[in-house]
Amino acid sequence: MTATLGWTSKTVSEPTVKLYDLHPPLDDFRSEAIAGLQKPEKFVSAKFLYDKRGSELFDAICNLEEYYVTRTEMSILQTNAVEIAAKIGDGVLVEFGSGSSQKVRIILDAMEKLPTYVALDISVQHLYESCVKLAEAYVGLEAIAICTDYTQPIKLPEISSLKNKHKVAFFPGSSVGNLEPEEVIQFLKNTANLLEPNSSLLIGVDLKKNKSILEPAYDDSHGISAAFALNLLTRINRELGANFNLDNFGYKAFYNAIGRIEMYIVSLKEQVVNIDGIEIHFQAGELLRTEYSYKYTITEFQELAAQAGFQPQQVWTDPQNLFSLHYLTNSVSGT
Ligand SMILES: C[S@@+](CC[C@H](N)C(=O)[O-])C[C@H]1O[C@@H](n2cnc3c(N)ncnc32)[C@H](O)[C@@H]1O
Repeated sequence: MTATLGWTSKTVSEPTVKLYDLHPPLDDFRSEAIAGLQKPEKFVSAKFLYDKRGSELFDAICNLEEYYVTRTEMSILQTNAVEIAAKIGDGVLVEFGSGSSQKVRIILDAMEKLPTYVALDISVQHLYESCVKLAEAYVGLEAIAICTDYTQPIKLPEISSLKNKHKVAFFPGSSVGNLEPEEVIQFLKNTANLLEPNSSLLIGVDLKKNKSILEPAYDDSHGISAAFALNLLTRINRELGANFNLDNFGYKAFYNAIGRIEMYIVSLKEQVVNIDGIEIHFQAGELLRTEYSYKYTITEFQELAAQAGFQPQQVWTDPQNLFSLHYLTNSVSGT
């Protein structure tokens, strides 16, 4: 793979995929991980779960029987694809956390004319390979891959196909649930700024439901969710020179009635781990948080989005009311 830095783009293969590699530097990972591990309640951001192996494990989670999220959102997209495609028209589709770029295919299949597609993701190799597969499947699609951290303010490259176009942000997978509610407001404000002047948002939001459905989805019987979380320690060992012994750590996930799934790596014994010359002490049973996954009612999410200037236009759900797909527009642009 040939990556480019900054906004200088280069065609890296046929079919055409332009890759802009703005991946956060290793030093950011080091400083954020160490700061989080030194907190009284240990925490490492979910965005660091996605190295190449992490992205593969996430794809395996999507195929689990217990993980209703992916198949339910895909069924909502399929049922309403024509209507959704009409909202995008000949605009630009900007996907946040595009992963394997599978869900966007359902929308592309329903479009009369292929839009320009911009994929944003932090996992560079997975992002690039997924965009190449997409461009191969949809000949003529202009695919632009940007490796970046979408929780930071970002800019789109200044190229003619993105200028003065109606842009629709696509944020599937209920990834918005990884953010704290106040972070959601900031993220949505940044999104509106990124896509102005005519911004719209198509966003998948997992609905509140019984914990008998929720908990197995995040702690499956095959141990894939556990492997996904524990891969973070493998990554810290490899990239930051730490010495986590994976035999000494487990995993747990549970529903907190305030409205979120909480996911943790658990220290199975009292131990000391060395990372970059710094000693991190773990008590037996101590937790290291890897992820929250907030769940919202439709109204709760609409109220949150309104605080960032997004007005609800339409919501689609599945027959069992497991998941919601919202279409909202920015109140400033009114589109
Ligand atoms: C839960 S997965 C969802 C993947 C896919 N969109 C789906 O719906 O199945 C989250 C995706 O967002 C990416 N991601 C997570 N945090 C990110 C961040 N802060 N910036 C950019 N990408 C991020 C991950 O690499 C991963 O591909």
